[in-house]
Amino acid sequence: MRKIFMTALILVLALSSCAFADGVKIGSCIYRFSDAFMLRFRNAMSAESAKEGAELVLADSQNDQTIQDGQVEEFIANGVNVLIINPVDRMATQNIIDKAKAAGIPVVFINREPPADILSTYDKAYYIGAKPEESGTIQGELLAEYLKSHTEHDKNKDKKLQFVMLMGENGHQDMILRSEYSVKALKDAGIEPVQIVGAIANWDKLQAMNMMNAFIMSIGPENIEAVIANNDEMALGAVEALKANDYNKGNPEMYIPVVGVDANASALEAMDRGEMLGTVLNDADGQGSAAVKLAVMLAEGKDVSKEVTDGKYIWIPYQKVTRGEKK
Ligand code: BGC
Ligand code: CA
Repeated sequence: MRKIFMTALILVLALSSCAFADGVKIGSCIYRFSDAFMLRFRNAMSAESAKEGAELVLADSQNDQTIQDGQVEEFIANGVNVLIINPVDRMATQNIIDKAKAAGIPVVFINREPPADILSTYDKAYYIGAKPEESGTIQGELLAEYLKSHTEHDKNKDKKLQFVMLMGENGHQDMILRSEYSVKALKDAGIEPVQIVGAIANWDKLQAMNMMNAFIMSIGPENIEAVIANNDEMALGAVEALKANDYNKGNPEMYIPVVGVDANASALEAMDRGEMLGTVLNDADGQGSAAVKLAVMLAEGKDVSKEVTDGKYIWIPYQKVTRGEKK
């Protein structure tokens, strides 16, 4: 009798630990659901969670750090095993880390990099992303390559490149470093870039379109030789404004090269139509699946030291995408 009881008990224990292994519950906050790139990211995370048999609960932080902080508290109270956080304000991540640490829950940050001194305050805090310097450099290189064989784009023949810069959100690592490194790559390629105007359009197509419209009116399209945008949505906004002024509609005399970053489907389509010059693949699939895989390993208490660099990071590379190389 006792023996049967023991066997049954062992069986129950074995079953419950096995149920835990593929019952990992992940709580994930996304800074803003309406962000086109983060939609790709979310889809990748959902697909990977399904593969791993993990439960993924996603929350829309609506671009509000206070809302996100509340969602994190709720996830912890509801007993999630691990958090994947796309911060609204990457500088305000200490609070999230403190809460996760107090609850003993690992936290994987994505897409918006917390400062190293904040990340270092918790041994179970990680970051998965892509190096912004890389995307800026590739963007500058692909524009330089094009301009070298299209000298007609030096419209005022001053051997310099008069360009408009459309920037993402203030303080975002991708806004700061993409802006800096795209210009650096142009210089390294022997082009002298002159920024006529730079504006923050918050990664947003409509904001970028309105700004570009205003620039076209005030500067005149004949005085703009290129548009560099920190992401595809803003590049597409610029393209819309140009098209409304009969630019980038197929007439080579009326074309301004526009470059973006992300390789979102709508940008690839615009490139196929000849409306946009190029983009850089921001690998949402790679980053999303790596985030879920790492989160599951952490939730299961596995050793992740071989998965990360410098104890905390997973870097997913960017790739150049130009016309005719549709992915
Ligand atoms: C992407 C942008 C996106 C932003 C959100 C960047 O890496 O290129 O499209 O809006 O992340 O944080
Ligand atoms: Ca010029």
